[in-house]
Amino acid sequence: MNLNHIQSHIAQDMQAVDTVIRRSLHSEVSLINTIGEHIINGGGKRLRPALVLISSGIFGSIQAQHHELAAIVEFIHTATLLHDDVVDESAMRRGNSTANHLFGNAASVLVGDFLYSRAFQMMVKLQNMRVMQILSETTNIIAEGEVLQLLNINNANVAEQEYLKVIHFKTAKLFEAATRLGAVISNANVQEENALAQYGMRIGTAFQLIDDVLDLSGDVNQIGKNLGDDLSEGKPTLPLLIAMHRGNAAESATIRNAIQHGGLQELPAVLAAVKATDALNYVRKLAENEARIGVEAIAPLPNSTNKQALVDLAEFAVKRDF
Ligand code: IPE
Ligand code: IPE
Ligand code: MG
Ligand code: MG
Repeated sequence: MNLNHIQSHIAQDMQAVDTVIRRSLHSEVSLINTIGEHIINGGGKRLRPALVLISSGIFGSIQAQHHELAAIVEFIHTATLLHDDVVDESAMRRGNSTANHLFGNAASVLVGDFLYSRAFQMMVKLQNMRVMQILSETTNIIAEGEVLQLLNINNANVAEQEYLKVIHFKTAKLFEAATRLGAVISNANVQEENALAQYGMRIGTAFQLIDDVLDLSGDVNQIGKNLGDDLSEGKPTLPLLIAMHRGNAAESATIRNAIQHGGLQELPAVLAAVKATDALNYVRKLAENEARIGVEAIAPLPNSTNKQALVDLAEFAVKRDF
C-alpha cells in the first residue's frame, strides 16, 4: 500500500495541518526555531495526524479545530522523538543527523520539552476537557513506557508480555489517542469511539513490531535511521528475544550476549541467528495479526473512503519498508 495514495484524499487537510505546525513552532528563542525546523523539515510520515483526520472524517467534515488537534498530536510525537534519540543515542533520524548529534543532548531535551508544552498550550485553546484528559493520560503513559524500556535495557530475560507492555505504552498509546480523538472531536458515540481506539492501539502495536523488524532488516536510505540502533544499546526487542528462544545453544548465547553488552561488534552473528530462526517472520506474523484485529474492530462502522483509508493504513503498518 502506497502511503501517498492512502493520504491523497486528505492531502489538502494535511497541508492545513502543516501550516498549523509551522506557525505553532515559532519562538523568540532562535535555537528553538533552529532545532524545531530541523526535525520538522525532515518530514516524517505524518501518520498520527493523518489518523486524527481520517478518524474524524468518518463522522463529519474537517474544520480548523481538527487541523489544530492533528498538529498537537504530531508535536507530541516529535517531542518524543527528540527525547528518544537522546536516550537511544541515535545519530540518524528522517534521513538527517539527529538533533542530539548536531546540537547536543541538553538542547534536544529542552526543545522536546518546548514542543510538549506548546502542544498543551494549543490543546487548552480547544476548550475540550475530553481532549485534555486523553492527551494528558497519553503523554504520561508514553513516558512510563520509555522508562519501563530503560529498566529492561541489557536484560535478556524480558518476557514477551513485558516487551508488549513497553510497546503498547511507548508507541501504541499515541496511535490510540489519535484515532480516539478523531472520534471525540467529531462527536462520535461511545461504541464508535471505542472501536477507533481499539483500531489505533492494534495498528500502533503492529507499527512498532515492524519498527523493531526494520531495525535489523531495513534499508538505511528507506527508514532514514541507522540499522542496529536497538541492538547497539542492548534493547531486548521481540525479534532478538524470539531468535534467542528458538536458536541452538550457540545462537542463543550470541543473542543473549549482544543484549547484555550492547554494541554492534556481533551484528553479523546476531543477524545470522535471527535469519536461521526465522524470527523476523514470527514478528511480522504477529504484526499482521494485530492489524487484522484492529481492522475487525472498525468493521461495524459504515463503509466510506475514510474507513477504507484506515484499512489501507493497517496494511501499510505491516508491509511498510520505511
Ligand atoms: C518513529 O515513528 C517512532 C516509532 C514509534 C517507531 P514514525 O516512524 O512514525 O516516525 P516519522 O514521524 O515517520 O519520522
Ligand atoms: C519509539 O521507539 C517510541 C518513541 C519514540 C516514544 P524506538 O526507539 O523504537 O523508535 P525509533 O526506532 O528510534 O524511531
Ligand atoms: Mg529510538
Ligand atoms: Mg526503533
